[in-house]
Amino acid sequence: MLEQMGDFFDRRLEIYEEHQLTAIDSAGEFYPFTARCLPQKPEAEILDLGCGTGLELNFYFPLAPTARVTGIDLAEGMLAALQQKFSDKALRLIRGSYFDVPFERDRYDAAVSVESLHHFTQEEKIPLYRKLYDALREGGYFVLTDYFARSDEEETLCREELRRLMAEESAEAGELYHYDTPLTVEHEIEALHAAGFKRVEILGRWGATCTLRADKGPGE
Ligand SMILES: C[S@@+](CC[C@H](N)C(=O)[O-])C[C@H]1O[C@@H](n2cnc3c(N)ncnc32)[C@H](O)[C@@H]1O
Repeated sequence: MLEQMGDFFDRRLEIYEEHQLTAIDSAGEFYPFTARCLPQKPEAEILDLGCGTGLELNFYFPLAPTARVTGIDLAEGMLAALQQKFSDKALRLIRGSYFDVPFERDRYDAAVSVESLHHFTQEEKIPLYRKLYDALREGGYFVLTDYFARSDEEETLCREELRRLMAEESAEAGELYHYDTPLTVEHEIEALHAAGFKRVEILGRWGATCTLRADKGPGE
C-alpha cells in the first residue's frame, strides 16, 4: 500500500534513526563523511533538503557548532524531533516540499541532502537543482548522499513499478508517495549539469550509496 511521503516517515519516527543507522549498509560511515564535506567556517549558511530528524546534522554540528542551517521537510514529526534535538542551534525549519518552497538567491555556502532525493525523476530534479544553484553563493556547492540504481534497467523497473502501483491504488497524480525510484549516478550527474552546476565529482561510494559534490563555480 502506497503511503504519502511525510506520513510514511512520521509513522516510523520512533524507530527512524536507529533503523537508518543499522539497516542501511555503511550508514555509520557515510553520515560522518557527508558532514565532513560541508563547510566548517563559523556561521556557515547551509540548506538541508529533506532534513528529517537531521542525522547528518548529528555529525555536522560538532564540526561546525555555529553553522546556520535551514532544513526543509514534509514530515512535521521529523521536524519537531530535529528542533528538540538541536534547540541550542541556529536552525530554521520549513515544513513543505523542496519542490515548492522558494529558496533565497545567493544565500547559502552549501546545500546538503541525504537519503531523500531517490524518489524523483530527472524531469522533477532539474528545476529543483536550478533553484538550488541560484540559492548558492558564488563558490557554493551541493553535497548529495543518496543511493542510486545500479543500471538503467533497475531505474526503469522501479519507475514502472511505481506507475503500476499508483494505477492499481488509484493514487493521485501530483501527490508524493514513498516508493524508491533511484536514478543511476550517471543520470543524477546529467541532471546536475543540466541545472548549471559546472563540476560534479563522486567523493565517496559505499555499495549503491554515493556522495556527489556539485560546484556552482565562479560567477558568470
Ligand atoms: C530517509 S529520510 C532522510 C532524512 C535525513 N536527511 C537523514 O538522512 O536522516 C527522507 C526525508 O526526506 C523527506 N522528503 C522526501 N521528499 C521530500 C520533499 N519533496 N520535500 C521535502 N522533504 C521531503 C521525507 O519527509 C523524509 O524526512
